[in-house]
Amino acid sequence: MLAGKKILLIIGGGIAAYKVLDLIRRLRERGAVVTPVLTRAGAEFVTPLSVSALAGARVHEALFDLTAEAEMGHIQLSRSADLIVVAPATADLMAKAASGRAEDLASTLLLATDTPVLMAPAMNVRMWQHPAVQRNLALLRSDAVRFVGPNEGEMACGEVGPGRMAEPMEILAAIEAAFGMGPLAGRHVLVTSGPTHEPIDPVRYIANRSSGAQGAALAAALRDLGARVSFVTGPARVPPPEGVDVVRVETAQQMLAAVEAALPAEAAVFAAAVADWRVANAAGQKMKKDGSGHAPALEFAENPDILATVSRMAEGRPALVVGFAAETEKVVEHASAKRLRKGCDWIVANDVSPGTGIMGGTENAVVLISEQGAEHWPRMSKDVVARRLAGRIADQLTVDQSTGQPMISTA
Ligand code: C5P
Repeated sequence: MLAGKKILLIIGGGIAAYKVLDLIRRLRERGAVVTPVLTRAGAEFVTPLSVSALAGARVHEALFDLTAEAEMGHIQLSRSADLIVVAPATADLMAKAASGRAEDLASTLLLATDTPVLMAPAMNVRMWQHPAVQRNLALLRSDAVRFVGPNEGEMACGEVGPGRMAEPMEILAAIEAAFGMGPLAGRHVLVTSGPTHEPIDPVRYIANRSSGAQGAALAAALRDLGARVSFVTGPARVPPPEGVDVVRVETAQQMLAAVEAALPAEAAVFAAAVADWRVANAAGQKMKKDGSGHAPALEFAENPDILATVSRMAEGRPALVVGFAAETEKVVEHASAKRLRKGCDWIVANDVSPGTGIMGGTENAVVLISEQGAEHWPRMSKDVVARRLAGRIADQLTVDQSTGQPMISTA
């Protein structure tokens, strides 16, 4: 519940502004106090009247407003809030905030405050992907601005891709998480991610094509539900999300040690693509051609199975252990057998045969395998898979599965 939380809501100019009306309604239902700020462009999409009627408060629009300055100056306006939410956050608002401009009420408020800021971007897919916007995104992230979305899908302009504003319920979840109030608040969750690198010699290694995208998305989704996330990652292409405890490792053996050090946790999700074998006779110095024409023979030793090790822990086993299974055929059959063999609770299985574009790609089509059977999810972006899986993990940890009632948190 957000009872008494003061939210300054900056509404930017985009077609998604209409969804913000629903967000205001939901925030107020939960007891939040919403102070709306409408940019000039925002007022082209929603009227001040509808915003103020739903917010039950006056809408602030102009930087130089004498009545407002007498009642509450813009400095006070931004500082009295517990959280500033920018939705939709347009490319223009992001650019102004990233470069510290103060040329209208919205940008001035963002500059005049040290209140945490959450942005829900919405724009055309080409704009979102433009290096300038991505640069501003990176700058804002390094200024500790939090983001929710954008989602992928069809946009008002007819194009398809990332750029749709997150749905009101997703923005609400991110607001609750910003207040440490999500369903997983006070819970500790461990996520492994990325490939491992197994050295051959000091300059060469054996790796795999895992990008770390699914693990990173999952860690972000669990964080957004309020969990404290320990993120143990191999050398991945996708950077780790903000706001999680990152432990970087190279090899499977290091990953196991880092996982053991991060436990106990209430749930552990093993999304890493761990090498099954390491080079047993890795050289201490760079291997050289000896002129004989003979290639060196590598010997392999089996790596520890981290998922199986944690699943079978006699003491301190997480209440929920989730593994992934990348298969190229008979997905359900192989993954169900893997669930039993490894001793984990759930397996998230996917078909990574060449041609699916899943390994290293942005989409995933998964089957969730549990004691109850196999549940096929439609093909969707890895972000959506992550949010859905995080939601299921939260349900499992917080809802009594026999009664369907919320459990009393022990945290
Ligand atoms: O046996 P397979 O590699 O297909 O199992 C995949 C699952 O097991 C993934 O969840 C992966 O993170 C985990 N795993 C592990 N340690 C290994 C091998 C796999 O944790 N050495």
